[in-house]
Amino acid sequence: MSIQFHEESNTFILDTRDTSYRMQISRYGNLLHLYYGRRIYDVSLDYLLRFQDRGFSPNPNEAGNDRTFSLDFLPQEFSTDGKGDYRSPSIEVENGDGSFIFSGKVTGHRIYRGKYRLEGMPSLRAAEGDTVDSLEIRLEDAESGAAVILCYSVFEEKNIIARTARFENAGSDTLKLRRLMSATVDYRTADYDFICFSGRHTMEREFCRMSAERGVHAVGSSRGASSHQFNPFGIVCEKRADEDCGECYGYSLIYSGNFLLETERDQFDQLRVNLGINPKNFTFVIEPGETFQAPEAVLAFSPDGFTGLSHLYHRIFRDNLIRSPYLHAPRPVLLNSWEAAYFDFDEERLLQIARASLDMGVELFVLDDGWFGRRDSDNCSLGDWEVNRRKLPDGLAGLSQKLHAMGLKFGLWIEPEMVSEDSDLYRRHPDWCLRAPGRPMTRGRNQLVLDLSRRDVCDYLIRVFNGILDGAQIEYVKWDMNRSISDVCSALLDRDRQGEAMHRYVLGLYRIMDEMILTHPEILFCGCSGGGGRYDPAMLYYQPQIWCSDNTDAISRLKIQYGTSFAYPVQTLESHVSVCPNHQTGRTVPLKTRGVVAMDGILGYELDSTKLSAEEKALCREQVKRYQEYYPLIAEGDYYRLTSPYESSVTAWEHVSADRSLALISLVLTDRESNGAQQYLKLKGLDRTAFYRVQDRDGAYSGALLMNAGIPLPAGLLEYEALQFTVRKVRDAE
Ligand code: GLA
Repeated sequence: MSIQFHEESNTFILDTRDTSYRMQISRYGNLLHLYYGRRIYDVSLDYLLRFQDRGFSPNPNEAGNDRTFSLDFLPQEFSTDGKGDYRSPSIEVENGDGSFIFSGKVTGHRIYRGKYRLEGMPSLRAAEGDTVDSLEIRLEDAESGAAVILCYSVFEEKNIIARTARFENAGSDTLKLRRLMSATVDYRTADYDFICFSGRHTMEREFCRMSAERGVHAVGSSRGASSHQFNPFGIVCEKRADEDCGECYGYSLIYSGNFLLETERDQFDQLRVNLGINPKNFTFVIEPGETFQAPEAVLAFSPDGFTGLSHLYHRIFRDNLIRSPYLHAPRPVLLNSWEAAYFDFDEERLLQIARASLDMGVELFVLDDGWFGRRDSDNCSLGDWEVNRRKLPDGLAGLSQKLHAMGLKFGLWIEPEMVSEDSDLYRRHPDWCLRAPGRPMTRGRNQLVLDLSRRDVCDYLIRVFNGILDGAQIEYVKWDMNRSISDVCSALLDRDRQGEAMHRYVLGLYRIMDEMILTHPEILFCGCSGGGGRYDPAMLYYQPQIWCSDNTDAISRLKIQYGTSFAYPVQTLESHVSVCPNHQTGRTVPLKTRGVVAMDGILGYELDSTKLSAEEKALCREQVKRYQEYYPLIAEGDYYRLTSPYESSVTAWEHVSADRSLALISLVLTDRESNGAQQYLKLKGLDRTAFYRVQDRDGAYSGALLMNAGIPLPAGLLEYEALQFTVRKVRDAE
């Protein structure tokens, strides 16, 4: 068993193959955190806990005259509120008497084989061949009857610990839950850096590294979606950590709504990390007998830098999270109509674009926004999901048939969660959107948000969209969500329950996705929220790929895709070749470079193919062929970031096959210096002793040489030019 309880020292022992996690029940029943990190073999770690009489650090009643026990400095596994720990807590609950005290003492635990289950929310599952054990620890507040059940699942070979918490009201008062973290980890020191992935619309997931300083540093979202601004993923690492060395801890939350990821360096230079639903504007009324389930946090530890950490997340998300049957299937190369025609099309125009894309090797034509209602701009018609017969006289079914007759598959854009004020749906059901009565509404892209906390609204959407999916031959769906949520108030919730609306929205969304996506396994779904505004593991549970950003500029994409790759596997990232000058930045980049960058993901095109020259089409055809040839390596191989777009004038990355016999190396020169220094690219992940042939070079070189001395880059490489080449094993060690 990877989980044990050591009675003598009251220690919970959780071990994965290379990591260990320890907590201990204190002599007064509190659950203390002892250790998380590289694998150890000790059982009792008592000596790590230091007890001291410290000024202004209160002592719990049970400690009597012992002034050396205080929650103010001891490392907590689940920090309770109102009992002398003044750091950011794991829980805040308003009791029947109006107080905010929760004193969680361990009253029992359970260890069992297999993964714990989470109702109504995506979570990891045990995959074939995995050893997964679980632990549940019950913490009770004797006075209120409230309890928290901490759940842990240990994925032994995968070096992953999944965690969550469930709140239970076993008392007789109504309780108000204001905060419930999925994971809290207390470190005994604070000599760490914190890395988050922060951005904005059209520039998501920029790599941001900072020193963990005194006080609370909080990142997260209160926009109703996991957001462009911060991703529910972060890293705590040693100051010396880089791609190849240093201890790194990963924190990922399988949740698509408002989240909080905070670090707090306390008065004694210890570090706390909290991860969970964002407490901002959150309150859940829990009646006696009711429970509340927090989403799942996925914790990983790598002793060997960021690359090792990324590999752990790529593997667990690939093997244990994403459900789509398309996960390991080659994804069709698509052409999307958005940047090709925006709202300005009719069937004839779409068919022209589609026909011209055949020469490029495109396999799937995606009709983006503009096909329904009176949708000639983004100011109206969301909610009126009736096909626009002026544009598409034969409907979706007719268009789909014509595309299929050409040999193309058909994909469709939808945005189920939104409604335009100028729509029949809104005129019929003005109370179906989130709004506070008597207050003017805040618009975003001129649209309002449907109230998915309501069951009737969700039922309606399931019916309408299942009808659309079943009404034409559709092989791909792009599910969009195009604004940040505001004016959070639901017509069906009582006034003291409005704080539940955003979480209920997310649960409603999951139910719709359960009933649309999981019931249409034959359709390939792509997530989208103005590009990558909801690029999170919960969405990946339903949708195996996500439109990474509305920014299609290959040079901007280098940073966006670099940041995304820290947590998310390549085959979740949709990336398109678009025209130049680029529509977002005005930059002009060679077509080859655009192809190389888009191949660092699921390759697609988003341009008017009728305007391409014969040479350009031939180049696209070559790109598609190359991509299809290397798809298994790109999608299933190990991913290495060879250089950082923030630190180097060459951004390079590498896909290496599991047996290390083949690698595909891609690079882009982003800043050319005149008569500059010779640059060498050091490879990674090769077999040190084997010999490899580098594409277009004579001779064979050892893996060790290619990784330590590197490959000289051609001096004539121009700014924005890309190179892509293979390195193939020719023989084992001599
Ligand atoms: C969002 C998406 C785009 C496109 C438009 C359509 O911005 O990210 O790719 O689908 O909506 O309105």
